[in-house]
Amino acid sequence: MNKKIFSGVQPTGNLHLGNYLGAIKNFVKLSNDKENECIFCVVDLHAITTKQDPKELRNNIRETVATFIACGINPEKSIIFNQSSVPAHSEAAWLLSCSARMGWLNRMTQFKEKAGKNKEKASIGLFSYPVLMAADILLYDSTHVPVGEDQKQHLELCRDIAQKFNNDYGIDEFLKIPEPLIQKEFSRIMSLKDGTRKMSKSELSDSSRINLTDDKDSIVNKIKKAKTDTLPLPSTIDQLIERPEAKNLLGIYSSITDTTLDKSVDEFKGKNFSEFKENLSQVLVEKIDPITKEIKRLIYDKGFLDEILFDGHKKANKIASEKVKKMHKLMGF
Ligand code: AMP
Ligand code: TRP
Repeated sequence: MNKKIFSGVQPTGNLHLGNYLGAIKNFVKLSNDKENECIFCVVDLHAITTKQDPKELRNNIRETVATFIACGINPEKSIIFNQSSVPAHSEAAWLLSCSARMGWLNRMTQFKEKAGKNKEKASIGLFSYPVLMAADILLYDSTHVPVGEDQKQHLELCRDIAQKFNNDYGIDEFLKIPEPLIQKEFSRIMSLKDGTRKMSKSELSDSSRINLTDDKDSIVNKIKKAKTDTLPLPSTIDQLIERPEAKNLLGIYSSITDTTLDKSVDEFKGKNFSEFKENLSQVLVEKIDPITKEIKRLIYDKGFLDEILFDGHKKANKIASEKVKKMHKLMGF
């Protein structure tokens, strides 16, 4: 069976190494397999669940497309489009929200984290965000959804919503139940300043992450300043348990060089951090610098990026509007 791959990235700026290693690198790999049909969506409707400046949002949408392409996604083989250009997403989100249950959404940890203490002041969009995400996935009969570990709970919810909708309307498999594709290792890249916190776009300190638009010098400096502990690097993986920063940096090294954590631990056992960090900077610069340069080149070619989005819009709109029509019929409209 051909895999139908769907994933989304929010155009909220500061795409970073965590996005690349946790998600986009896998998108590229999957999209290079001829058997797969891939759709990559710039989820701009999700972005507005927190306040956005319209001008910045417009630029960030284009920058996300440029990032996809610079990382190696071929727009002639995969569909790349922005969510708001396909009205079926908002519409299906409403239809599905009548099958989704408050109790299910109440359990979402991302909402709890993002809303913080003041839940009453959070937008309704932030709360119902995972229903829109379910609509994104289910409209395309997606079979597999590559994401970082932080999205696992949202995918489980998507599966529950699909199941409930199928039961509500008495048709098995009308909405396909998708499988998450989460990498076993390195599915959660942590902050360079605190190995217990996720590397994140919204973290105030820029030195906590490596942005995909950072130049060579910034990458080297950020790695130099990255938090470590005082011990030399360990000789076994077990010794990393209480050492989150060492584990994260070795994990980043392994993921970038496509090797296992075991092998990286063996390569650097007993060495001090300064020597390891030089190696880490070098492999990061080798991998990230060409991507950065390509993003910076593409970002000026607005016409090219808009054409890709328009082409993707046409293809995605056709598939999604047909699925919504079928939903309408099933629901008695
Ligand atoms: P977002 O930027 O929240 O739209 O995330 C885009 C993709 O990157 C999703 O699949 C996330 O799971 C993934 N992602 C975001 N941050 C990290 C991280 N620190 N480590 C691994 N994956 C991440
Ligand atoms: N919620 C995802 C994130 O923040 C982005 C997203 C939206 C997504 N719709 C999606 C991911 C559909 C996969 C499939 O990272």
